[in-house]
Amino acid sequence: MDFETKLLTESDIDVAAELIRRGECVAFPTETVYGLGANALDAAAVAKIYAAKGRPSDNPLIVHIHDVRQLQDLVSELPGAVERLTAVFWPGPLTLVLPKTPAVPVSVTGGLDTVAVRMPDHPLALAFLRAANLPVAAPSANISGKPSPTRASHVWHDLAGRIPAIIDGGETGWGVESTVLDCTCQPFRVLRPGAVTVEQLQAYVAVELDPDLEVQAPERPRSPGLKYKHYSPEAQVVLVTGSRVQERIQEELRRQQQAGVKTAVMAFTETQAEYGDVPILDLGSKQNLQQAASRIYHLLRKADHQGFELVFVEGVEDEDLGRTIMNRLAKAAGPNVIRT
Ligand code: TXA
Ligand code: MG
Repeated sequence: MDFETKLLTESDIDVAAELIRRGECVAFPTETVYGLGANALDAAAVAKIYAAKGRPSDNPLIVHIHDVRQLQDLVSELPGAVERLTAVFWPGPLTLVLPKTPAVPVSVTGGLDTVAVRMPDHPLALAFLRAANLPVAAPSANISGKPSPTRASHVWHDLAGRIPAIIDGGETGWGVESTVLDCTCQPFRVLRPGAVTVEQLQAYVAVELDPDLEVQAPERPRSPGLKYKHYSPEAQVVLVTGSRVQERIQEELRRQQQAGVKTAVMAFTETQAEYGDVPILDLGSKQNLQQAASRIYHLLRKADHQGFELVFVEGVEDEDLGRTIMNRLAKAAGPNVIRT
């Protein structure tokens, strides 16, 4: 794992595809976040993904395809309701968990007998997958535990020297990951809220939220150091939710400033003025949650670049895309959630 990492562009898709066919890893843009891809049918290639990311081997990967016909090789059973979903949401940010065929190595699925599959909606991703002509396993292209990459520079920061190539496709569109839907139970179950909302899915099939998702904003802070930390910058993130968000952040700011802690607030345009001269990480307008979602990971990384030790974040309503935003912010905050 000692590479002179190449930065590729649209005109180098064939180079990237050839690397995949040779069993190497390539980072590529999707409409959600950058992925770190390798041939999903080659266990040795998949092992390189885990090594480059420092990812625990029991955390399964999403397999990316460019043509629904590829499902035949990957999935042993395709319920009719799933075909309805692929017709509506693919290509797009919806990942479907289905029973796997023996062709899918267990290293892709973390030992599970199911496989997660999606067809990304990004011209470079689709061109790359088509050229490789293989199913490509790809987690987000960050060092495990760090915020997901929404720009090639984020991937470079985390993985330069650890992978042979990165395809630069500029900023990703959604900026948050796909929705993961388990289709092996009834009703289907949302394991990870994402760019496709639960409300959108419910228009086509019955879905429920995984009960584990309900514990994201606990009454009392959970003990620190638990396994939950994810998407985390070096700075400590404190998520503040409820009806007194601004007042509570103001109180906390006074305390931290007295203690000399280098602090910033991740806030919406409408409320930024309430924090005086404290540095702001700008989420954009509260009326545009899609924009907020697309900025979160970049802002968490920016907090580190600017050397903040502590970042207070304004929470949003836990519905529609707000549910996805709150899920990611809660994971970045770990136990540091204040409910007002
Ligand atoms: O938008 C995305 O989904 C991005 C882009 C690159 O496609 N990928 C991504 O991958 O976010 P990753 O590895 O960071 O997250 C994959 C998620 C994890 O939460 C994993 O536990 C879940 O999908 N997953 C994968 N296979 C699964 C399976 N067989 N059963 C249940 N969950 C699974
Ligand atoms: Mg990830």
